Amino acid sequence: MPHILLKPHNNITISSDGNFRFIATGNHDQKICAVYDNREFLLTKVVKNGNDLVKLDSATRLTPVSLMKTALNDYEKTSNSEVLFSNVNSIYNKVKPEEKYLKDINYFVKEFQTDKEIYVEVGFGSGVHLLHQAKTNPDKIIIGLEIHYPSIEQVLKQARIQNIENILVINYDARLFLEFLKSNSVGKVFVHFPVPWDKKPHRRVMSVEFIEECMRVLKVDGTLELRTDSPNYFEYSTSLLEHFKEYHCEILTNQDLDVTSKYEARWKRQEKTIWDVKIKAKDISEEVDLEDDFSFPYLYDRETLKSKIDTKAIIKDDYMIHFESCYDIDDSVTNGLLIKVTFGSFNRPVSKYLLLENGNMRYFQGEPIRTKANLAAHKTILEILK
Ligand SMILES: C[S@@+](CC[C@H](N)C(=O)[O-])C[C@H]1O[C@@H](n2cnc3c(N)ncnc32)[C@H](O)[C@@H]1O
Repeated sequence: MPHILLKPHNNITISSDGNFRFIATGNHDQKICAVYDNREFLLTKVVKNGNDLVKLDSATRLTPVSLMKTALNDYEKTSNSEVLFSNVNSIYNKVKPEEKYLKDINYFVKEFQTDKEIYVEVGFGSGVHLLHQAKTNPDKIIIGLEIHYPSIEQVLKQARIQNIENILVINYDARLFLEFLKSNSVGKVFVHFPVPWDKKPHRRVMSVEFIEECMRVLKVDGTLELRTDSPNYFEYSTSLLEHFKEYHCEILTNQDLDVTSKYEARWKRQEKTIWDVKIKAKDISEEVDLEDDFSFPYLYDRETLKSKIDTKAIIKDDYMIHFESCYDIDDSVTNGLLIKVTFGSFNRPVSKYLLLENGNMRYFQGEPIRTKANLAAHKTILEILK
């Protein structure tokens, strides 16, 4: 992480036409708002062993990192302070090559559209099955979800080598991804050998909510296909079927597929039982319309807002909110306040800042991703701060 250690120094001068827009002061650190190429982010200034450490604020990091490195170097010059240490120029600018297979969640939120049928594979691991599906179904789009980055890199490499055109890969938790897909757009959802999480069952991919989401995104007669070698996971998953009695379900044992992953081969050699549980979608599902937005329709007063903020986490059934800290902004912003808040789903909460300027509030660096959990959390934030 790029950072500079400076001798203690006074606040840098802020000017409305410069790159530094304001300084916000909290109980333990300061946030300095930088704007480069019309993109805003924060630097953190914190006292370390009697000196001033200036680094990037991790919740507002953006790419290219070079923008943030320029900001740190400019800060150093503007501070007129003695530099005790800096690694800013020695940190290599890792430029990620344009990757046609690897997408981030914003792509699925804002851009992804297709008339083709979609197959989704959850936790593709080595990717043997994912690549096989792509090759044997060239008319379909195969979306691979995986949270383990080395597995993703391995599959991207293979997709490039094999010139595959119909794979999209995303580093995202499968339990949260399906809500970004349209209803009735998917032919199959594969969940092959999910991690059993015997000691932390709340981390399991399969749940009533996950199966419901699968039934929504699947076309009529489309299937959710679980394959597992774990007796516990098999038992747990079949117990969930109690909630889906009206659906056609099939349970098979020791079926051979066209391809075998290394993981599966190991269990086969040990002659373990392998179960397949298939659930078939039966209805046309309605499109989910997330109508709400992330705006703050009121005018706020800084002191009143501060009195309303409690740093105790708020835990609801489907989401959480944690106001972490408040920062008073200097006179360059009228009635300015910066509030750090973490909120959204338990599995993937997001950390953002709320920025109050002239009585108006907005999410610093733009709105969060439109998910049910984020929208529900936003509604509660509105109520609390009203
Ligand atoms: C036991 S491996 C199975 C890999 C592959 N499906 C196979 O059959 O060989 C489970 C994989 O699921 C991934 N995984 C676990 N939880 C996940 C989640 N919530 N979302 C996406 N992938 C997940 C893990 O990183 C791991 O690669």
